[in-house]
Amino acid sequence: MSLQEQLAEIKAQALAAIEASDAEKSLNDVRVKFLGKKGEITSVLRGMKDLSAAERPQAGKLANEVRDAIQSQLDEKKAALATTVLNAKLAHETVDVTLPGSPVMQGQPHVIQQIIDQLIDLFVGMGYEVATGSEVEEEVYNFEKLNLPKDHPARDMQDTFYITPSILMRTQTSPMQARMMEQHDFSKGPLKMISPGKVYRRDTDDATHSHQFHQVEGIVIGEHITMADLKGTLKAVAQNLFGDSLDVRLRPSYFPFTEPSVEADITCFNCHGDGCNICKGTGWIEALGAGMVHPNVLKMSGVDPEVYGGFAFGLGPDRFAMLKYGVEDIRNFYLNDVRFLTQFNQKG
Ligand code: DAH
Repeated sequence: MSLQEQLAEIKAQALAAIEASDAEKSLNDVRVKFLGKKGEITSVLRGMKDLSAAERPQAGKLANEVRDAIQSQLDEKKAALATTVLNAKLAHETVDVTLPGSPVMQGQPHVIQQIIDQLIDLFVGMGYEVATGSEVEEEVYNFEKLNLPKDHPARDMQDTFYITPSILMRTQTSPMQARMMEQHDFSKGPLKMISPGKVYRRDTDDATHSHQFHQVEGIVIGEHITMADLKGTLKAVAQNLFGDSLDVRLRPSYFPFTEPSVEADITCFNCHGDGCNICKGTGWIEALGAGMVHPNVLKMSGVDPEVYGGFAFGLGPDRFAMLKYGVEDIRNFYLNDVRFLTQFNQKG
């Protein structure tokens, strides 16, 4: 067979093989077989040395043409195969946008956090700052600077988780009173602060006790702050959380850090004062502790009680949530049962 015939034969075989291959891999095999270093064209070219000098250029030209023809056919087929693969992939991944979607579970703030957020909105609106503080607190701030020296019997009211003798899990958010008074520059105006957060007590959990619950502390210290300001503030809280028409009454009580100390009751939101099972027939609901900040507490935080004074209060969002939603067991808030928690969807 002449060289020309051999080349024509190779070309025909190569084109047929390219036509027949249906994947990138087999196409590559074809390329190696015909155009590779040890491929058929190469071996034909090797035979050129036997040709006469006159024949060689023509044969060389033909060999190049055959090689180019195979190569361009290979490129074309490769592109065609890629398009086929892409089309198959697109067809496979088609999304039917008319199909109904699967619902996505959406989170929401915990019911206690919802109450806290509502209080934050109210107090920020009245010009208070929010200071959360730390759940791990120094004994000095949790007790000492709140007029609760060591061995004071009132410490028994708050069974405490101690980490070391001087570091503890805060039993109340009241330590932020002392911390904020120490930092405040009273020449720039009064201190108005609320401190929401978690607190801890060494209590045995039951329907009304949890070893971890929440408090929102509030304090206003300035000149000419009176108990009437306290009452008005607490009334704003009651009306914001439970309803516009509710009133507040103050009863004498005892807290070491306030003098006088009061317990604040709010009109029962359920019966509006007539008496029902929620308020145990009294028409009032015990809501929170409060009072006028004790001069000792002011002094220990470097505030002159002759010039400045004010009120403080501490309320329990857990208790408020129980009252508001008729939850009978505080432990429900901490079980993380979504069936319980999703009942309190803010968006209703
Ligand atoms: N920290 C108190 C408690 O846990 C609550 C409280 C009462 C806070 C009276 C106050 C206050 O600021 O004035 O029982």
